[in-house]
Amino acid sequence: MLMASRVFAVGFVLAFLAFSVSITSASIVETSFLVKNLTVNRLCQEQVIAAVNGSLPGPTLRVNEGDTLVVHVFNRSPYNLTIHWHGVFQRLTPWADGPEFVTQCPIMPGNNYTYRFNLTGQVGTLWWHAHSQWIRATVYGALIIRPREGQKYPFVKPYREDTIMLGEWWNADVIEVENSALATGSAPNNSDAYTINGWPGDLFSCPSNKTYRLEVVPGRTYLLRIINAALNNQFFFKIANHNMTVVGVDAAYTNPLLTDVIVLGPGQTTDVLITADQSPGSYYMAAHPYASAAGVSFNNGTTTAILVYENSTSSTPILPILPPFNDTATVFRFSSNLTSLVTSPFWQPVPQTVDENMFITIGLGLAACGANQTCGGIFGQRLSASMNNHSFVLPTGISLLEAALRNVSGVYTTDFPDQPPLQFDYTNVSNSFDLNLLMTPKLTSLKSVKYNSTVQIVFQNTALIGIEDHPMHLHGFNFYVLAQGFGNYNPQNATANFNLINPQERNTLGVPVGGWAVIRFRANNPGVWFMHCHLDVHMPWGLGTAFLVENGGTPESTLPQPPADLPQC
Ligand code: C2O
Repeated sequence: MLMASRVFAVGFVLAFLAFSVSITSASIVETSFLVKNLTVNRLCQEQVIAAVNGSLPGPTLRVNEGDTLVVHVFNRSPYNLTIHWHGVFQRLTPWADGPEFVTQCPIMPGNNYTYRFNLTGQVGTLWWHAHSQWIRATVYGALIIRPREGQKYPFVKPYREDTIMLGEWWNADVIEVENSALATGSAPNNSDAYTINGWPGDLFSCPSNKTYRLEVVPGRTYLLRIINAALNNQFFFKIANHNMTVVGVDAAYTNPLLTDVIVLGPGQTTDVLITADQSPGSYYMAAHPYASAAGVSFNNGTTTAILVYENSTSSTPILPILPPFNDTATVFRFSSNLTSLVTSPFWQPVPQTVDENMFITIGLGLAACGANQTCGGIFGQRLSASMNNHSFVLPTGISLLEAALRNVSGVYTTDFPDQPPLQFDYTNVSNSFDLNLLMTPKLTSLKSVKYNSTVQIVFQNTALIGIEDHPMHLHGFNFYVLAQGFGNYNPQNATANFNLINPQERNTLGVPVGGWAVIRFRANNPGVWFMHCHLDVHMPWGLGTAFLVENGGTPESTLPQPPADLPQC
């Protein structure tokens, strides 16, 4: 029951062939996730975690583009949870998207839910993770989409592929870490280690420790799928003495970009080609944080794995020199040099007109502590976060999507603003502690848009409390990144430099620290789609909102009814 099975959907294929001249196929890939407690040993101590099918990371799912994935989730953990398929378009399957209280109520302990959706129009690396509280610290895995039969990668065929998942580890129950911080409105404890494929690596001495090893054949080229599954950290990633050629990000092909370092925010993926062209030996792959927020404490550890040449005898791997923790210049150079491969069969030209123009401030703030309570945030208040000064709160008794389908009133409003309520010098650090700017109302406000409208968003980071690079993630859609920069956004200067030809296409973007980024997408999928900071410290503080994409008036543009087993609150 727990083994992945690959069932050829004969009926579908025959029906398809009848209408198609090209020989093509799509399969149903069916698997089960049994989520329950698991005791593991990391950093020389035992810790009970929630895990899928008894492993950390959880199972890697492999499909071909066009396949349907069916995942039966059995929640035998003590926590309410959901699973999100990060980056999957979920065209007409919004009930399978997974964010708790956005598209579904959580799966309660002892209950089950089947996620069913197809993977059409995207090839590369995505991933899945729990989308309730901080459970994704240990409930996550890779989702690999290969070209469908008869189609090829638009780059040299790799000899082999491998997946590198960067994670974050606490010597504690992560739910307790989160809840104790939320109780007082203070910042949560930092993690104790970063991990590669579940292991901290050699720089932590501990006899029970393992280090992930990838054996390579000299002269061969490998495709590495690198995923940042950490909760609260962006990473620099390098391989000693080896360059990488980026060929895809967030399951969208890019023009090849040669680099010795890559940067990933939580949620992002990067596909790179590497060639084993160095002298036979062993080389560390290593990641450590990009810490953009000045003065904020962070775990400055380094996680490692080993790239080892077949039959090599050398014992001590070479360690790469990672950029300084605050090396914003390297981050910006990497992220602004990525462009899309417009010859990809999945490339859609950038919409040249805009229906919804939004300017959204993103950053931190404060919320009232509450009478007779003691809070740990600055000024004795609770730490908070907001978009356009709306600090997002999830409903509790019903999901936003069900409330939208059934017209239940009182669950959300649709007055999320297109502009911040107040204009100020957003990135000026002398405003950071201005109490007139810091207080954020707690609201469940959505932005409602017409089916197929094009939405442009300028994300503007604020200096409130502190400037910081926020990895902004949009569910249900890829967006184009038209421009990015530092300081306050200036439309006169920026518009002239928009890349409308081959901008990178992604589902998660790190908005430059103390800066701005412009994105654009077509809202061609009815439903409720969460948009939030993928730092799990900021999401519960309210750094999010959701798009309510209206029905378009045809069956292909109408929100379907939920599946019968959709969990109830
Ligand atoms: Cu990967 Cu809403 O998240």
